[in-house]
Amino acid sequence: MKALVLAGGYGTRLRPLTHTGAKQLVPVANKPVLHYCIETLVDASITDIGVIVGDTAEEIRTALGDGSAFGAKITYIPQDEPLGLAHAVLVARDYLAEDDFVMYLGDNFIIGGIHDLVRDFEAERPDVGIMLARVEDPTVYGVADVAPDGQVLRLEEKPRDPASDLAVVGIYLFTPAVHEAVRSIDPSARGELEISDAIQWLLDEGRTVRSSMISNYWKDTGGITELLEANRAVLDLLEPSMDGDVDAESEIIGRVRIEPGAVVSRSRIVGPAVIGAGTEVTASYIGPSTSVAGNCVIDASEIEFSIVLESSSIRGVGRIESSVIGREAQVTRAENLPRSHRLVLGDHSKVQITP
Ligand code: DAU
Repeated sequence: MKALVLAGGYGTRLRPLTHTGAKQLVPVANKPVLHYCIETLVDASITDIGVIVGDTAEEIRTALGDGSAFGAKITYIPQDEPLGLAHAVLVARDYLAEDDFVMYLGDNFIIGGIHDLVRDFEAERPDVGIMLARVEDPTVYGVADVAPDGQVLRLEEKPRDPASDLAVVGIYLFTPAVHEAVRSIDPSARGELEISDAIQWLLDEGRTVRSSMISNYWKDTGGITELLEANRAVLDLLEPSMDGDVDAESEIIGRVRIEPGAVVSRSRIVGPAVIGAGTEVTASYIGPSTSVAGNCVIDASEIEFSIVLESSSIRGVGRIESSVIGREAQVTRAENLPRSHRLVLGDHSKVQITP
């Protein structure tokens, strides 16, 4: 069995972070989402992995290399334009050959692996195997109408009037039957070749599409809220470690990972939290559910339920909550009167200020 990982696309919901980087490389607990995806595949003994890349190809290649660091063999497959998930299968036709494959959306995040999905698919070998999860707002996902025995009856992409609250998880299993389907469908109203439509095409042809409820944790990290929640979920399982310097005036409570070269002084860190390599935390409060990447400076500030990316600094700003701070960002206190907010924000930034 092969895997096809989708790491192209635009990432509009994660702007401005995605103006400068691939959305699949945004870190959760200081590790890119895409690394979790490759590790999950290798853990299920799937090591022959094709990765679909778009505009951010170079960055993705730098992050994954030839796959050997993960125990995998990676083949990069360029997609000139993000014309849809089924289009990605079309461009990967030669790579996939006549093999069964897992299609894994590079921004999907799960905890607990895909062993059950792969085992059930191999035992029964339907044409398609999908996983479903109950969600609050099905209108932003592919939605399935399912018979009591798990056979899918109908699939619809981002329906206005959903038939159920069962969202399709972005990890699918296919036999080569999918190739005829992706060739046969037309672009959707949003101009994309939808994988949901390809699966619906197979259903219309009388093919078998099996579903199972996902028993583990799943998030599509395409939005800020979901990213923060995925970060919290990983941190909840964190192995604590202490490889940096913490002075006697600091307090470390609960599951906290302090990476090598981090320096914590006169601060309180409440787990679960990660402090990245080379980061300095002074006279601050950090956590819970917070990841601070490497080479940051946090001084006289409080940060909770947040993600701070590499080489940023936050100084003297009071309390920050539910936030994602991009690479090399600087958040500082304005010292002089009149008291006002001075902002230099990238395009599509979002700032909420307490007056
Ligand atoms: O997360 C689950 C949902 O993923 C499913 O419920 C939907 O049925 C499915 O269509 C998909 O919806 P999204 O709107 O979230 O897909 P998105 O455009 O975010 O693309 C998913 C990943 O695939 C993302 O890592 C970008 C990549 N991609 C996307 C497109 C459209 C590509 O590599 N090429 C593409 O052409």
